[in-house]
Amino acid sequence: MANTKTVILKIKRQDNPNAKSHWEEFELAWHPGMNVISSMMEIARNPVTRDGKATTPITYDSNCLEEVCGSCAMLINGRARMACSALIDKLEQPIRLEPFTKFPVIRDLAVDRSVLFENLKTVKAWVPIDGTYDLGSGPRISPEEQEAAYPLSRCISCCCCMEACPQFNDDTGFVGAATISQVRLFNTHPTGAALKRERLAALIGDGGIQECGYAQNCVEVCPKDIPLTQSISEVGGEVIRQAVGDLFRK
Ligand code: SF4
Ligand code: SF4
Ligand code: FES
Repeated sequence: MANTKTVILKIKRQDNPNAKSHWEEFELAWHPGMNVISSMMEIARNPVTRDGKATTPITYDSNCLEEVCGSCAMLINGRARMACSALIDKLEQPIRLEPFTKFPVIRDLAVDRSVLFENLKTVKAWVPIDGTYDLGSGPRISPEEQEAAYPLSRCISCCCCMEACPQFNDDTGFVGAATISQVRLFNTHPTGAALKRERLAALIGDGGIQECGYAQNCVEVCPKDIPLTQSISEVGGEVIRQAVGDLFRK
């Protein structure tokens, strides 16, 4: 018997950063194991809307196709998540695809997420290594320390946590959960800890950690199950201790 099952996708489109957005609907033949990215690849092979109008392929970011690169994040049925791991059979139809709302749209579903990378620069989210000469072996890190750091190191910079956060907006300038969690990661690294004071200082004041309202949306959408609220409370405590200590040192 011929396969008559179909998949209906409603996709929010925008031609350029300044254009008005509009919706287009597509109907595709169902195949086992389809996901959102494979559906958009199918649209690219035959870009025709459900009502028969010729259109253009959908623009979106993707690379690894296995939830590692973090580039394919978008709103799928209103939830921030990765398109490559969103199985069609697990989604309610029609499936709504929209770009993130808190990041500038470049085109269709592709957005500019550079704010996260700027925030990571502000908190110096790296291990400082001075010079290109042989520095010798680094400090030993115990298996227990490695185990504690590993979940934090799994961040893929997808920005889902920031999109879902009620406090991440232009009014607050909040850095967001991913950046705070990276502060925790690098502050607990024996060599990374050299910049601990500077990292904590960068989280004080406007847009800093005090903007977090502990709504916990971030931890619910993180595709890598990073313990974000735990990072926020740990780093929050350290920021307060450093700020109070500095007051008494004045
Ligand atoms: S706990 Fe809530 S307010 Fe804080 S970063 Fe997460 S989503 Fe945002
Ligand atoms: S913390 Fe989680 S949701 Fe946020 S950017 Fe990293 S992987 Fe994505
Ligand atoms: S394509 Fe890399 S995370 Fe989806």
